[in-house]
Amino acid sequence: MKNLLFILTLCLCVSCNDQKTALARQEQLNPSIPRGLIAEKAMVVSARVEASEIGIEIMKQGGNAFDAMVATHLALAVAYPVAGNIGGGGFMVYRMEDGRIGGIDFRETAPLAATKNMYLDAQGNVIKDLSTLGAMSVGVPGSIAGLFKIHEKFGTLPMSTLIQPAIDIATTGIIITKNQAKGLNEKQEDFRKANKGAIYFNKEWKAGDILKQPALAKTLARIRDKGKDGFYKGKTAEIMVNYLNNLRGIITLKDLEMYEAKWRDPITFTYHGNKIISMSPPSSGGICLAQILKSVEPYHPEQYAHNSEKYVQLIVEAERRAYADRAYYLGDPDFVKIPAEELMSPQYLDHRMADFNWDKATPSTSVGHGKIPGYESEETTHYSIVDPFGNAVSVTTTLNGGYGSKVYVEEAGFFLNNEMDDFSAKPGEPNMFGLIGAEANAIAPGKRMLSSMTPTIVEQNNALKMVVGTPGGSTIITSVAQNILNVLAFDMGMQESVNQPRFHHQWLPDEIKFEPSFNKEIFDPLKKLGYTINQSNSLIIGKVDAILVLSNGKLEAGADPRGDDAAAGY
Ligand code: DON
Repeated sequence: MKNLLFILTLCLCVSCNDQKTALARQEQLNPSIPRGLIAEKAMVVSARVEASEIGIEIMKQGGNAFDAMVATHLALAVAYPVAGNIGGGGFMVYRMEDGRIGGIDFRETAPLAATKNMYLDAQGNVIKDLSTLGAMSVGVPGSIAGLFKIHEKFGTLPMSTLIQPAIDIATTGIIITKNQAKGLNEKQEDFRKANKGAIYFNKEWKAGDILKQPALAKTLARIRDKGKDGFYKGKTAEIMVNYLNNLRGIITLKDLEMYEAKWRDPITFTYHGNKIISMSPPSSGGICLAQILKSVEPYHPEQYAHNSEKYVQLIVEAERRAYADRAYYLGDPDFVKIPAEELMSPQYLDHRMADFNWDKATPSTSVGHGKIPGYESEETTHYSIVDPFGNAVSVTTTLNGGYGSKVYVEEAGFFLNNEMDDFSAKPGEPNMFGLIGAEANAIAPGKRMLSSMTPTIVEQNNALKMVVGTPGGSTIITSVAQNILNVLAFDMGMQESVNQPRFHHQWLPDEIKFEPSFNKEIFDPLKKLGYTINQSNSLIIGKVDAILVLSNGKLEAGADPRGDDAAAGY
């Protein structure tokens, strides 16, 4: 009965969503500019329509953005298992209606038995796949601890109310989309390898299939009934640890018991007077974003045509230098000292950009990390929420690769992350995103691996302006930077901004990646200046889900058409 009521509510929401979409169309001033869903009061933009609708439903029941976050996160764990998770981790940045800001880190940690060279063979070479596929690649999950910590501080509805919708859709099933069927079919072999045999997800998938997850529903019910301990202790923990042990994993019950999410002060900086609030270490997102935007600020990028040769060149040179610093300086702040203020100071960044030359690409081989005096290092998902009270949350969460380590704790119904690959297994050795790291991001027991996740909020004239973030591994930071510039420097609407073709440079490899739809006319001129172009055919850079506060106070969604992403609002 409860399920039936829920599905009915969902259907009602979908039809009211249609009305909102119609309203959005009417409000289009210029029909050639794509507009996202427009809402008066509240909005959720996420990778799945079910999750966005569930978040909105919670706010209609009186819940705030934090309540909606918990419900949306768990709905994604059911409806978007490629990245939505209870077996992974993430980061959240928030801005309250009164301007107070904060952040939480529910990033995975290295197990206590982890060692610096655990992914190297006797010759000191990286062992293929060990940090990406199977039990050894799993970090101690943080999501459930994060959700409970957030709820404890800001939640207004009972946790059981926020968990129930996810239990309901896990029980009644979700409809597999074309994209999901394709992704699942591609992973069949990896699922078998990681689990040493077939799992529940091993079958030929097609769009329209119904995925029911009874084991996950039971795990979620244990979390509903026992709180955080329903995951980190007792039955779920035992099932998880036994399963991992059988696969020669090293996570223990003690690792789970000891896991703690942490409040972190966000990174803040201004870009032409707008305040940007983003995630601090152990994510590199906020610092790197600040370095890129502060490096280009004095050049007034809006004087160049959007995505033109000059615009791309300027951003790329700032990105190159920021990622070189990332590789050297950044890691878990509880283990390494990070010179954050220095790295973001205008003097330091001016100095870093001093050898930028409009006539010639700066080769990455000639760009090391900057000198700070006195200093001795494929599938994620982002959702943005604004509530009717004016609170905003920006959340990026991940299993790292698609379906993480591919280890599926069958009896408890969830996938585990392969976040250990975000550590630097060996100095100078690229990880799955081609990112290089150093001592600051070396493996140590209990340490958090460096992330690129960049959940971000923008404030203009002391008021909320934009909530933004994306998946995309190393490309996350550059995608967020480009969307901030699209809106602040080029005055684009939210959907218009999200739809723009994107590009990316990360220092090493020394190449610019372009999405296939990018204007190819600028490639030859860039090549003449010494830039290497990589435009692999199927390349997608990020899936940005964002919300913009329009000048009339209404909210505009930007749901990325590169995925099945969808907005819901009222
Ligand atoms: O934390 C990080 O930076 C990575 N684990 C994110 C992985 C990711 O975005 C994959 N998505 N496409």
